[in-house]
Amino acid sequence: MSDSLTILGLESSCDDTAAAVVRHAPGHPAEILASVVVGQTELHETFGGVVPEIAARAHTEKLDLAVEEALDRAGLSLAQVDAIAVTSGPGLIGGVLAGVMCAKGLSAGSGKPLVGVNHLAGHALTPRLTDGIAFPYLMLLVSGGHCQFLLVEGLDEFTRLGGTIDDAPGEAFDKAAKLMGLPQPGGPAVEEAAHRGDPARFAFPRPLLDRPGCDMSFSGLKTALLRARDERVAAEGGLRMGDRDDLCASFQAAVADVLAEKSRRALKTYMELSPPSPVIAVAGGVAANMTIRAALESVAAAAGAEFLAPPLSLCTDNAAMIAWAGLEAFRAGQRDGMDLSARPRWPLDRKSPALLGSGKKGAKA
Ligand code: KG4
Ligand code: ZN
Repeated sequence: MSDSLTILGLESSCDDTAAAVVRHAPGHPAEILASVVVGQTELHETFGGVVPEIAARAHTEKLDLAVEEALDRAGLSLAQVDAIAVTSGPGLIGGVLAGVMCAKGLSAGSGKPLVGVNHLAGHALTPRLTDGIAFPYLMLLVSGGHCQFLLVEGLDEFTRLGGTIDDAPGEAFDKAAKLMGLPQPGGPAVEEAAHRGDPARFAFPRPLLDRPGCDMSFSGLKTALLRARDERVAAEGGLRMGDRDDLCASFQAAVADVLAEKSRRALKTYMELSPPSPVIAVAGGVAANMTIRAALESVAAAAGAEFLAPPLSLCTDNAAMIAWAGLEAFRAGQRDGMDLSARPRWPLDRKSPALLGSGKKGAKA
């Protein structure tokens, strides 16, 4: 019997409905046979954030279609996959439930085993899908909903070295864009304006750098940006383009500095393990930011570690990462039954307490 495994993955924990098929045989690179992501941006646009009920309904409508499309693109029938992996938390509970129910239906109908996957484990194990890297490695998750450093030592061995105590960086970028009158998602818009601006013009705070450890805070930055904007508006009678660009550049510089310094500290802890091939990998939409990426790259180089950023389509929410994490778990023997539950909160690191934030995209684990 061949050791090759083919897994169907489902993801619906936030505002993307996704299905993917991943295949892997030991000793070979993994293959993403199909990866379908149906976004919901336009459904939530007018509300200024993800509306959980709308998201859940859209997932229910789109999941079957996404699965059909993924199997179609992979040229496979459900009978040809080895198992069905599904995000069973953490996330917006209505969406997670929709995915779990769909996967249970598929599993009951086809007789294929069911594997529940932690969404954060999906992100954290992505560098193994894309680059086949070995444990242990350091992971920085930076998106609209997540922000944490994870020491990844095994499939189910995660140590959280620190994370945000309030907003996630992507959320901060989105709020900053709103304050600057720029469109959503805020990250790319703020980055574009920042290109033209002076990062040294406004001295924004670098929160928590004066405290030891790897925890971060981004909500104060947003308040500082609001104050600086109001000051400019009061002085000029409106927000001039040049001022806006300088505000964006200074804001981005502050986020990059905080992430870089905290990464330096996380790398120090990681390097104490003497990893044979040291790697710091990133995931999440914020990893697309070139200033932040450059800052992280130089911190990694100074520490003697490789900097790894998977392709953006695999850094942001997708089902290939869920299929992959499910594949690794399935190979290690995990099987779930019809009692698999949907969990709104599910910290990866069971040793440290969950940090409770109130992100626009739901609970942060
Ligand atoms: O990973 P992602 O697609 O979704 C989740 O949050 O799960 O990340 C989206 C976040 C948004 O907040 C967006 O503003 C931010 O990533 N983002 C960026 C950039 N591109 C996307 N932030 C800063 N700079 C960017 N270029
Ligand atoms: Zn995510």
